[in-house]
Amino acid sequence: MPSLGFGRTVQSAIYGAGAFGHRPLVPTDSTALEAAARRTMSRNGFGYVAGSAGSEATARANVAAFDRWQVVPRMLVDTTARDTGVELFGRRHESPLLVAPVGVLSMAHDEADLALARGARQQHVTQIISTQASVPMEEIASTLRGSSHWYQLYWSSDDDLVASLVARAEACGSEALVVTLDTAYLGWRPRDLDLGHLPFARGEGIAQYTSDPVFQRRVAERVARQSAERSSPSNSAETQPRPRPTAAAIGTLLSMSRNHPGRTRDNLTAKEPRAAVETFLEVFSRPSLTWDDLPRLRELTSLPIVLKGILHPDDARRAVDAGMDGIYVSNHGGRQVDRSVAALDALPDVVAAVRDAGSSAPIIFDSGIRCGADVFTALALGATAVGIGRPHVYGLALAGSDGVAEVLRNLRAELDLQMGLTGCASLADVTVDRLRRAP
Ligand SMILES: Cc1cc2nc3c(=O)[nH]c(=O)nc-3n(C[C@H](O)[C@H](O)[C@H](O)COP(=O)(O)O)c2cc1C
Repeated sequence: MPSLGFGRTVQSAIYGAGAFGHRPLVPTDSTALEAAARRTMSRNGFGYVAGSAGSEATARANVAAFDRWQVVPRMLVDTTARDTGVELFGRRHESPLLVAPVGVLSMAHDEADLALARGARQQHVTQIISTQASVPMEEIASTLRGSSHWYQLYWSSDDDLVASLVARAEACGSEALVVTLDTAYLGWRPRDLDLGHLPFARGEGIAQYTSDPVFQRRVAERVARQSAERSSPSNSAETQPRPRPTAAAIGTLLSMSRNHPGRTRDNLTAKEPRAAVETFLEVFSRPSLTWDDLPRLRELTSLPIVLKGILHPDDARRAVDAGMDGIYVSNHGGRQVDRSVAALDALPDVVAAVRDAGSSAPIIFDSGIRCGADVFTALALGATAVGIGRPHVYGLALAGSDGVAEVLRNLRAELDLQMGLTGCASLADVTVDRLRRAP
């Protein structure tokens, strides 16, 4: 008897459990998933994850862009054996899904990136570890226990720190380096602004930094400098007015102390946690970064380099010319530029530019993927693989690693059935002629 295939197996398991009164851990519908996560998450946490830049027009456009495509199923194709696998940088992936890099997962769940790692591993989905993760990359890699991972780099203004982060990513087994280019500055995010909430200022999401030897050196230098300044006669404590502590300030101090390495109790009176936040805010990004800097990164690593945030075909061509190994079409889920082109609308021109340049480099896509049909559409428009962003965070918030696994499982199952129902036996069949523009 032929196997049911992944989609039908998952479907049967859900209906089978339903017969005994069990409901899925997380809703299969993405709107219901977000609504359920909103109910469990803190206001600050949900605002940080769901929020986007400015009017949030980009985030809406990302999702709406999928509605302008329709799938045209083909009949009488034998799809009993379906293969959703894809090869990326020499490794076979069971599905074309990747876990997009998402920072500050401690806002969603106490086990943060470690729970994510367990969920991704269970579904054999490669995790892209964020530079803004809540847990050092080495711990995430060891939780993944051989399941593949890539490392996402924010290019710091501190060259030595960049070199150190890249070396650590290589050492802990990351198989590719994803350089995010769209975050020279943090976007204008009204939900966070109105709450006055920046997780990094509370010491959250800076674990890659506080676990880094170069960064630790910078923090020690800052503490020494500040001590010297304080002990100089013109700056003596008596001449400095002491700000009155507020409940919020105490909360921030607690958060910094909890998130800093070491014992919270010791951190409460130490200078390092605050100095780490200050140092991070100083070195986080390098707005002066240009194409001329890429060769330096190439010298630092033998890993494949993927540029994330590409939306213009000319930038895609330049990336190919610069010898980059992959292109990642993304507008950061609308979190950076308000009224940006929807990522899906940018995809076809980028694909054409890369392929016309004679490059077979993988083209990763994210920003707006919410269901299996969205994965199908992005692949049909030329993406090699897609990143799952907010949905995995909502799964994490609702049910930890099991929630992550279920979100990823559902997307894999839905894609598998979508392929079967449209006459696609493998991803090679998922081509643009399965789509048409909605009338
Ligand atoms: C809460 C949050 C944090 C994110 N952090 C990062 C990050 O640290 N690095 C990065 O390259 N992208 C980051 N992103 C962007 C994602 O990688 C991805 O591009 C985006 O989530 C895709 O949009 P979607 O989730 O709406 O599909 C973040 C996105 C969210 C929602």
